[in-house]
Amino acid sequence: MMPHDFSFAEHAPEFDSHIEQSIPGVRQLRSMCVGLSRRFVQNGTTVLDIGCSTGSLLSAIRHMNQPARLGARYVGIDAERAFAPQWRERRAPNLTFQVCDARNFRGYRNLSLVTCLFTLQFLGESDRLPLLRRLHDALIPGGALIIAEKVFAPSAQLQDALTFDYLDMKLQHFSEREVLGKERALRGQMRLWTEQQLVSALCEAGFQSANIVEIWRNYLFVAKLGIKTWER
Ligand SMILES: C[S@@+](CC[C@H](N)C(=O)[O-])C[C@H]1O[C@@H](n2cnc3c(N)ncnc32)[C@H](O)[C@@H]1O
Repeated sequence: MMPHDFSFAEHAPEFDSHIEQSIPGVRQLRSMCVGLSRRFVQNGTTVLDIGCSTGSLLSAIRHMNQPARLGARYVGIDAERAFAPQWRERRAPNLTFQVCDARNFRGYRNLSLVTCLFTLQFLGESDRLPLLRRLHDALIPGGALIIAEKVFAPSAQLQDALTFDYLDMKLQHFSEREVLGKERALRGQMRLWTEQQLVSALCEAGFQSANIVEIWRNYLFVAKLGIKTWER
């Protein structure tokens, strides 16, 4: 059988439930993003979700902040146009979505909050640092990036242990054929970093290490919050 690349389009109609069954604890991560957003979203700025898929996270962030921050703008971008029908249902005057590759987006400016959940891992490795730099530069002082990625474990033994336990967990929701099929399909598309590589890239992009903190972790999935400090 010739393996195909994983298709986000194929899963678009039920993508939120697909990702909830694929990434344990992702609901908690999303609700943390929504809770944390209250500290960062500012009137007159933009909140950006990179690789926004169905738009549900961005919509929830808007819902949380709208009563107190009527003057904020919310923009979701995703390279996959099959999410557009779900965007239409969520659209609001200050909430827009665009089919756009994150590498070519022209709206990196005046950002108070950026979320980028499990998206950087689908970009070529040489495209990641330039994107992180652009995000850091586009954040207002005091603005924040929340980034989540699947990472490689620090040792082969840990990688083996966590991978197999994770696959067992997935079998609660998917058949063996589906689990293996997805692993095959993602093989050429998703290139992981170690957590150390991710943190180094965030520092290289401009975030001070003292202002990067882990906010969530489950198996080999991790999320970091980086705050841009005031510049002298
Ligand atoms: C694993 S999904 C995560 C989606 C969403 N952030 C979430 O947590 O539910 C990765 C998303 O990134 C999008 N994506 C992949 N490469 C992209 C790129 N170069 N620019 C914009 N979006 C991209 C995919 O279409 C997909 O919706």
